[in-house]
Amino acid sequence: MTTAANLLPLQGKNILLGISGGIAAYKSADLVRRLKERGAEVRVILTPAASEFITPLTLQALSGNPVGQSLLDPAAEAAMGHIELARWADFILVAPASADVIARITHGMANDLLTTCILAANAPFAIAPAMNQQMYKNIATQSNLATLISRNIHIYGPAAGEQACGDVGMGRMLEPLQLAELVVAFFQQSPKPLTGLKIAITAGPTREAIDPVRYISNHSSGKMGYALADAAAKLGAEVTLISGPVQLTTPAGVNRIDVVSAQDMYQAALTAAPEHNIFIGCAAVADYRMAEVSGQKLKKTADKNELTLQLVKNPDIIAQVSALTEKRPFTVGFAAETENVQAYALQKLQSKKLDLICANDVSVAGQGFNSEQNAVTVFGHNLQQSLTLQDKTTLATALIQLIVEQYKK
Ligand code: C5P
Repeated sequence: MTTAANLLPLQGKNILLGISGGIAAYKSADLVRRLKERGAEVRVILTPAASEFITPLTLQALSGNPVGQSLLDPAAEAAMGHIELARWADFILVAPASADVIARITHGMANDLLTTCILAANAPFAIAPAMNQQMYKNIATQSNLATLISRNIHIYGPAAGEQACGDVGMGRMLEPLQLAELVVAFFQQSPKPLTGLKIAITAGPTREAIDPVRYISNHSSGKMGYALADAAAKLGAEVTLISGPVQLTTPAGVNRIDVVSAQDMYQAALTAAPEHNIFIGCAAVADYRMAEVSGQKLKKTADKNELTLQLVKNPDIIAQVSALTEKRPFTVGFAAETENVQAYALQKLQSKKLDLICANDVSVAGQGFNSEQNAVTVFGHNLQQSLTLQDKTTLATALIQLIVEQYKK
């Protein structure tokens, strides 16, 4: 189920907020609230000068976490040491960043808890400068900021305007709301893990015409293939979904090609496959089709109680994809079985020359065909990994991650 909390843009992100000494430090209390209301977990470090402007108690109450102040505090170090704090952070924001802290960060100093954590951290980080306009203009500060930019450190602001000291000019810290939105934008812009990867997926059943009004098909709903397409697209992949007739909406950002019969799917799949890095055959392709499709509706006859349809085998789409000699994609099949799941899956892995096969037992009620949930075991040539019963959306994300991991090996 999707809840409102799941939709918060900084949900699951650990933000380390460093506050240095400056009058703008009072605004950082509001910044903590803005970050938290966007779903972030926030921990605060105060420099010694900052604690002259704002109390640790305020920030502790707002962040819900103890506030770090000293590198030499045995109790704080025992709770979460500075290296642990540096590793905990997904993002570090120093706001306000005084001229002094900017200089110390630029030169790699580690003479208080904040600068030590920054030096020890591997997380992306940003500073929000706040100082007197003349200090900001000073060549020393400008040169420090240029150095930080060259190291891919983000500089948020400052804004121009009236300053606490009475001057007017550049050097005001951005407003807490603006800063919180810049942090959100940072996470939204960071490249998705599957960017640049092309994945083709077949999904749903195929329909094999008997005559103009009847067909042979199966119970595949297409939900698993669509969930895989959605998960791959959300992770940044370019997805082509070759879909048999289903009642599902196209996942956002996915290129969908509609087909009806196995032969249509074969054409579409063989055209698409060489252009993709990974091919996932999730469709329940009809094994047989009519040897000849009747041009007219077959009529019931009064004298015969039996009707024999002559069927011929359909091409094995995935086996053909896997047999490509040029531009062969990493090929992943599905095996929906009702018995001997492992043995049949391994047999298919070999006979179709697949890289991976995802096996599921469709005899178990509530998983596989037409259900909301599924459980699979993935077999490779040196791999066996089970993904337990879960909703198809969650399973799809785990499956895509596992497939991509194996593809990259
Ligand atoms: O042989 P079986 O149908 O059990 O194999 C299942 C796997 O092979 C699935 O990945 C399915 O999409 C694929 N397949 C195919 N073309 C067929 C039959 C199956 O691509 N004609």
